[in-house]
Amino acid sequence: MQIHSSIPELRTALPAGDRIAFVPTMGNLHAGHIALMTQARQHATRVVASIFVNRLQFGPNDDFDRYPRTLQADCEKLAAAGVDLLFAPSECELYPEPQQYHVDPPEIQHQLDGAFRPGHFRGVATVVLKLFNIVQPQVALFGKKDYQQLMVLRNMTRQMALPIEIVGGETVRAEDGLALSSRNAYLSPAERAEAPRLHRLLTEIRTAVRAGERNFVEIENAAASELDRHGWKTDYVAVRRQSDLQPPESGQDEPLVVLAASRLGKARLIDNVEIDASGGH
Ligand code: PAJ
Repeated sequence: MQIHSSIPELRTALPAGDRIAFVPTMGNLHAGHIALMTQARQHATRVVASIFVNRLQFGPNDDFDRYPRTLQADCEKLAAAGVDLLFAPSECELYPEPQQYHVDPPEIQHQLDGAFRPGHFRGVATVVLKLFNIVQPQVALFGKKDYQQLMVLRNMTRQMALPIEIVGGETVRAEDGLALSSRNAYLSPAERAEAPRLHRLLTEIRTAVRAGERNFVEIENAAASELDRHGWKTDYVAVRRQSDLQPPESGQDEPLVVLAASRLGKARLIDNVEIDASGGH
């Protein structure tokens, strides 16, 4: 695997004429990231990954400084997964001057996760557009674990007419259901034992909705209270339409997704579960 930290070197190394699949990450790689690398291989002849902890998408009270940085171990995992090329720029390389031009996503950037992380999706969209311009892939893969991020980037790509196919990867979970995340490292052993409750509650909501439950506000509130009773501090639990992440309209049978974010100890965990339209279930 080639590793490049400079933009001109990466550009020279990129294979002309090959179909490139790109997986951007912030490193501290786990099986969820690696699943995206493996899936990328099915879409292209060359797989390019990036590792960059993007300051622009972190708020002043977020975990930018303590975000785990494990480049050596990450390189070994990427090489073992058959990644051809890693782009791992320094902050000076990607932001040699303060970034003054931004991608400003629409209203959705202020909702759900965006309501609790002002500026987050603007920072994500800006760095991803910049990475797209550097790597110029034909395909890019993002995990459904970050459902709102996937939607924002899909819509950005479509509206800006970028010639890139956006592919979503299923969420990879630990055996007890906890979605893999670099932030799980912040959990104490007792919190780690408690953490699967989040996914369990989301699957219970899916079961209730499939059984015909339509009082979404009530089930959202009940789930948030249940988490908080067990020591969590819940930002939101929300049943939304898959298509645009807006609240479902009554009487419509459309694919839904239940999303949640809640803080347990020092970790802020997010997760979601899709609920397909009842026709198929
Ligand atoms: P990061 O959190 O490192 O995630 C990189 C990619 O891995 C994202 O597409 C994310 O959705 C996916 N991912 C994380 N955990 C996953 C899991 N358990 N199962 C499947 N996929 C998972 O998301 C980012 O970095 C950044 O915002 C980035 C897009 C790189 C922009 O800075």
